[in-house]
Amino acid sequence: MAKNVFITSALPYANGSIHLGHLVEYIQTDIYARYRRLKGDNVVYVCADDTHGTPIEINAMKQGIKPEELVERYHKEHSEDFAKFDVQFDIFYSTNSPENRHYSELFFSRLKERGYIYQKEMELHYCEQDKRFLPDRYIKGKCPKCGAPDQYGDVCEKCNSTYDTSEVIDPYCVICGNKPVVKPAKHYFFRLSAFRKELKEFIENSNFLQEEIRNYVLSWINEGLKDWCISRNGPYFGFKIPDEDDLYFYVWLDAPIGYISSLQKYCNDRGINIDDFLRNEESEIIHFIGKDIVYFHALFWPAMLMGAGFKRPDILSVHGMLTVNGEKMSKSRGTFITARQYLKHLEPFYLRYYFASSLSRKPDDIDLSISDFVNKVNAELVDNISNFTYRTLSFIAKRFGGRLTTLPTGTAQTEEVMRLIREADEYFSEREFRKAIQTINQICFIGNKFVSDMKPWDLIKKDETLCQQNLTWCANLCKNLAILLKPVVPSLSESLEKQLNLNNLKFSDIGFNLTEHNLGEIKMLATKLEPEKANKIIEPQEENKEITKDASGKPELIDYEYFAKLDLRVAEVLEAERIKNSKKLLRLIIDCGEKRQIVAGIGEYYSPEELIGRKIMVICNLKPAKLMGVESNGMLLAGSLPNQKIFLATFDREAVNGSKVK
Ligand code: 2FM
Ligand code: ZN
Repeated sequence: MAKNVFITSALPYANGSIHLGHLVEYIQTDIYARYRRLKGDNVVYVCADDTHGTPIEINAMKQGIKPEELVERYHKEHSEDFAKFDVQFDIFYSTNSPENRHYSELFFSRLKERGYIYQKEMELHYCEQDKRFLPDRYIKGKCPKCGAPDQYGDVCEKCNSTYDTSEVIDPYCVICGNKPVVKPAKHYFFRLSAFRKELKEFIENSNFLQEEIRNYVLSWINEGLKDWCISRNGPYFGFKIPDEDDLYFYVWLDAPIGYISSLQKYCNDRGINIDDFLRNEESEIIHFIGKDIVYFHALFWPAMLMGAGFKRPDILSVHGMLTVNGEKMSKSRGTFITARQYLKHLEPFYLRYYFASSLSRKPDDIDLSISDFVNKVNAELVDNISNFTYRTLSFIAKRFGGRLTTLPTGTAQTEEVMRLIREADEYFSEREFRKAIQTINQICFIGNKFVSDMKPWDLIKKDETLCQQNLTWCANLCKNLAILLKPVVPSLSESLEKQLNLNNLKFSDIGFNLTEHNLGEIKMLATKLEPEKANKIIEPQEENKEITKDASGKPELIDYEYFAKLDLRVAEVLEAERIKNSKKLLRLIIDCGEKRQIVAGIGEYYSPEELIGRKIMVICNLKPAKLMGVESNGMLLAGSLPNQKIFLATFDREAVNGSKVK
């Protein structure tokens, strides 16, 4: 019976790029969602950008743009990245949506009515300079335990102790550096403590949590649940709480509600009743998350759902964290790999295959060891799987005109292969992807052995009919492989389908029944990963390259002479115009003591008009270059964070043209 399945991945913050750590989860979820679709279930895989909260608001403020604009930019970037990695959401929406406002208010009012939300006065840090209350992460100071300077308001990264913000010595505001004052403020609290019994029963008597997670969540419950502050003061980017002047829903309240509101949007667009997913006892709700956000999803979220009268999720699938070459991803070591950095060098299916072959249903950390990555992909995906499909199908193409005939009688391997297929099916359904991949390789191994033992190049001379029949059996095995590989590497599966001259294969097409059929054009499924190329993904990114590092990874210090070699000068922009057919490039005539032409890549952020008359900083002893055919003699200086707005380095109006910057 086809089931309705509502599947989610955690919502990424619209405040940074997607990296390989994120992709573990999206790829894991996508494999599962594709598997369930393949089995004929009615799947809606939902995700959205998590758009609210202080960091997004402050980041936008620092860039001089509206939070909506920042969120918009990341939405575009994230959508593109997910598509490239074949992560096939049924909807990728946003928590800053009318549907999410509606559901946030609905949850809030229901919970309040039922006595699960109350108000309480608190003492909070406030910055008089910035006119805002400061969350823990926006206060720094000396650690009360070890005295280390510049530690966050809630945790010391030197001695790892956690503490209350009020204990921090000499606290200062992270935004402006001033000392905050303590001010009272009224806030809303969610009565998590009221759900103690219900949560305990739910967790003990259901398959909601994996065993490894269940034990420590139960220990949290036994230690006592604290009520949860669900409001924040303005300025804040989020939904205002109805009937309040300056209070907003805390981002972690409306984020998980975003799962439901995105599903609602999906249903609205298609005229589907959301209750088919949310209220139907036969439907399934499955959330995939990382182990860093278990508290929110195993306690707050089910309690909110229970309190507001919604069905509880059936499964919370928690995965471990990603390490690269055995270490935590780190920007300075170059092992912080964004989706885009990866895509510059390698095709996405390699990573999908590798992650699948590393994932189990346990929340263990997984390691992207580059050498293991190369070895595994080459030995399994290329030498075993791709080799089998190519050697058999190309033989049929060359020697039998691509024609499949009848099946041979009594092929002993069929039964064993069918047993392994059932086993792989079982593993996929249990989210044991590593084992599923191992089983697929076993199937393929049987195929390769069958071909090697049969020696079609000899057999064709002795018994052409049997040879063609045996290879027809192999082509059927290829079809079964195309189906089994579909959730993991959809692009390869599609290529294999095309070679087999089939399409839209479903799990129900499994079996040995394809006869008297013409193949399509045959090609190699996947080529080998070269170690040099694979290692490129962990090289420091372009934007960090200029800062050379010494052997220990610290930035290398330069002496004054080195610096003095740079001929930096004050220059005035005399003329500016856009270069034809380029969004980014502007042609400028500047006066840097002499007239020069330079080409600047700032056209997305500055119009020619607003540049004329400005005093900018230019490096004058840079080798000349041609950009889109236009000569550039020097370069202007500007600052930006990766993929973000660029700001020009400028001088006061009185600065004299040609002055050397020292
Ligand atoms: O930890 C995070 O990246 C959050 N943005 C995840 C939110 S998941 C859900 F609650 F929306
Ligand atoms: Zn401040």
